[in-house]
Amino acid sequence: MPADLPIRLAVPDDLPAVVAIYNRTIPGRVATAQLEPVTVEERRPWFAAHTPDRRPMWVVQGSDGVVAWVGLSDFHQRAAYAGTAQISIYLDEEARGRGLGGRLLDHAIRESPGAGVAALVGLVFAHNTASLALFQSRGFDRWGHMPRVADMDGVARDLVYVGRHV
Ligand SMILES: CC(C)(COP(=O)(O)OP(=O)(O)OC[C@H]1O[C@@H](n2cnc3c(N)ncnc32)[C@H](O)[C@@H]1OP(=O)(O)O)[C@@H](O)C(=O)NCCC(=O)NCCS
Repeated sequence: MPADLPIRLAVPDDLPAVVAIYNRTIPGRVATAQLEPVTVEERRPWFAAHTPDRRPMWVVQGSDGVVAWVGLSDFHQRAAYAGTAQISIYLDEEARGRGLGGRLLDHAIRESPGAGVAALVGLVFAHNTASLALFQSRGFDRWGHMPRVADMDGVARDLVYVGRHV
């Protein structure tokens, strides 16, 4: 897979690929606290909330379709948090470990101020070493640690908040 695949804003036709990439991470119990697959239909409102002006989502276009996405969403509904966004990043398995996550995160950091975002926050399981390494490599600090807040098939998992100002 070439290292320089193009990054572009997500369009509505990308939703099935975005959902498929997300769903493929669920059984691993490392990337997300979602326990069952999500459907394209139920994800439509979530996807629509990713407006390019304020809460953009970008995708990486491979030769056979989308291989990765990164999205900004509201960190919290209260007005004073409008400049803080939660960031989520998902790569298909074959796209990992080649610097693409870093490129995609760099892109989101660079574009965030244009979307009115001054701070990015990632919610990462403490056992998600790849994600923690990725965020740390891009200047994110640990802003919070919530012990044993997720019951993952009977295993209590910690959640880490990583954040940086942009
Ligand atoms: C987390 C994820 C986005 C990382 O993307 P990636 O393309 O594999 O990461 P990169 O190759 O760009 O590496 C970025 C940094 O993280 C480090 N890293 C990546 N994978 C790692 C791993 N498995 N273990 C330790 N460090 C790792 C790299 O060494 C690199 O650090 P450096 O820039 O200092 O050398 C990707 O693994 C993924 O999509 N995982 C599944 C979904 C997920 O967990 N998303 C996060 C939800 S919070």
